[in-house]
Amino acid sequence: CGIVGYIGGQNATPIILNGLRRLEYRGYDSAGLAVLQNGKIEIRRDAGKLDHLVTLVTNQPVEGNLGIGHTRWATHGEPNARNAHPHLGSTGEVVLVHNGIVENFLELREELEAEGEKFNSDTDSEIIVHLIEHAVAAGHSLENATRLALKQIKGAHGIVVFSSREPDKIVAARIGNAGGVVIGLGEDENYVASDIPAIVEHTRRMMFLESRQMAVITRADVKIETLEGKPVQPEIHTISWDPIAAEKGEYRHFMQKEIHEQVRSLTDTLAGRVNFDEGKVRLPHLNLTPEKALRIKQVILTACGTASYAAQVGEVLIERIARIPAKTVIASELRYNDPIIDENTVVLAISQSGETADTLAAMDECRKRGATLWSIVNAIGSQAMRVADGYISMQAGPEIGVASTKAFTAPLVDLYILAVLLADLRGVITPEQRRKLVSDLRLVPDLVGRCLDREAGVIQVAREMKYIHNMLYLGRGINMPIAFEGALKLKEISYIHAEGYAAGEMKHGPIALVDRDMPVLAIAPRDPWYEKMISQIEQARARGGGVIVVATDGDERVAALADHVFWIPETPWMLSPVVTVIPLQLFAYHIASLKGLDVDQPRNLAKSVTVE
Ligand code: G6P
Repeated sequence: CGIVGYIGGQNATPIILNGLRRLEYRGYDSAGLAVLQNGKIEIRRDAGKLDHLVTLVTNQPVEGNLGIGHTRWATHGEPNARNAHPHLGSTGEVVLVHNGIVENFLELREELEAEGEKFNSDTDSEIIVHLIEHAVAAGHSLENATRLALKQIKGAHGIVVFSSREPDKIVAARIGNAGGVVIGLGEDENYVASDIPAIVEHTRRMMFLESRQMAVITRADVKIETLEGKPVQPEIHTISWDPIAAEKGEYRHFMQKEIHEQVRSLTDTLAGRVNFDEGKVRLPHLNLTPEKALRIKQVILTACGTASYAAQVGEVLIERIARIPAKTVIASELRYNDPIIDENTVVLAISQSGETADTLAAMDECRKRGATLWSIVNAIGSQAMRVADGYISMQAGPEIGVASTKAFTAPLVDLYILAVLLADLRGVITPEQRRKLVSDLRLVPDLVGRCLDREAGVIQVAREMKYIHNMLYLGRGINMPIAFEGALKLKEISYIHAEGYAAGEMKHGPIALVDRDMPVLAIAPRDPWYEKMISQIEQARARGGGVIVVATDGDERVAALADHVFWIPETPWMLSPVVTVIPLQLFAYHIASLKGLDVDQPRNLAKSVTVE
């Protein structure tokens, strides 16, 4: 879910609505705001997208210098208007927005109901506002009341609250990893939000709350304390994020824009890290030395969703290039797996948002077991960046489309650079090998650009296939995760059932599904698995399945087996995933777009999932 709050001299309403607009990717089941108008809390909220709220506010305007807003991704309770945030207490004097799940919700609700409390929603969040309100009624200040309430609830939370009794402040708090709380510092005004993009158009000076910290935000200043009441002197970060980059521009959807931005994001990914003259790479924020690199016995990569497929490619690169045992464990599993980890284990988390709850929890768990934590993160200042011992900052820029594209290819290149760096520091590659691996990187932006130039061909195939109901994506070796990613892209934005499969496993089951209605998309660049892919394509073809292949320019052998070909330029195989995924991104995008679907905000999804 997304949160924005404002206190200052301006009208809070448009600031909140604008901020929520920038956060819509965080959830769009419902949206709402609360503003203090002439000493009274006024709420506007509705189910559905932000536009519903905007219409509501246009019809029933509300104005004031203090307010909070929320855009919701439903967990407890249907996404209807009564479950939309903000939630107002029974006295109408305290109002709250919340990210996270109150784990002891049922218990607390029963207790409060037994005391005669009335609930206006089915959400777990409403509990918190009643708890705060009771403490306020007992004479506590808003911050103390919030503290007392937070002591009673279990789970991870981000909350922002204000009270009409104390109209000069907003209180915000964070417990665990239910999304960030960032405070933006202005001149005689201050902001609070769950994410930087919500407020970056107003200020670049930001502070981040750590777990178990609370901020009391007034017009003039911000005071941060731990939940135990110990003052904290937070660091002020200056964010160099360009808000214009978060505009759609000439494109129809953010996703399309972001697919096309990959030439630039990959160029930026190389800048400052790759020295082509010397054939060397550097990743300064990992603070690696030959001694540290030699001590690594295993690398465990962890992530969720699309990022976990990037991790699977990284696993191949780290093993092949740096010869270090590497494996990917999805974050929601790793944390409960009793993982075998020691001080010679590096746990590498990959996350666009840097706030995914499962990924952060996996990092916490591995930290407890003594691992060195690294992260590859896009959102600057996010938790996954801050808690790691070292990090690689993805150079993707803001990614707004819920289906990740440029924040998939950037870490692929980061992982390749990392593998080369580790190999070099450990002395497992010769200088010639290193120079060759490094010089191949130079090709990447251009190869991706050449795939993008072929968009028209992909659109043609998408037109023909937009009515399919199923699709099987096959890949092997380093391109197996690309089959998973291609299938994920198709299902998340076009709602077409798609499965990604290890091509060699097709004969052990999925081949039973292949018929005229189940087309197969096979990723068959000229990599070490090429011959094997050909035999798998033949098997699918023999069962009457329509076949699309991703093939290297000039490869007539594969083309002869296929109904359609997505051509890619000749690419060094270890970098091929960066290239083979491009037509798959375009294909999913155009199918969804031709069907008139909401590409940037597909149903039921959220860009960053800050609950378990
Ligand atoms: C959500 C998004 C996915 C994303 C995953 C991990 O499920 O819908 O697109 O891959 O979270 O997000 P992260 O921010 O950790 O990369």
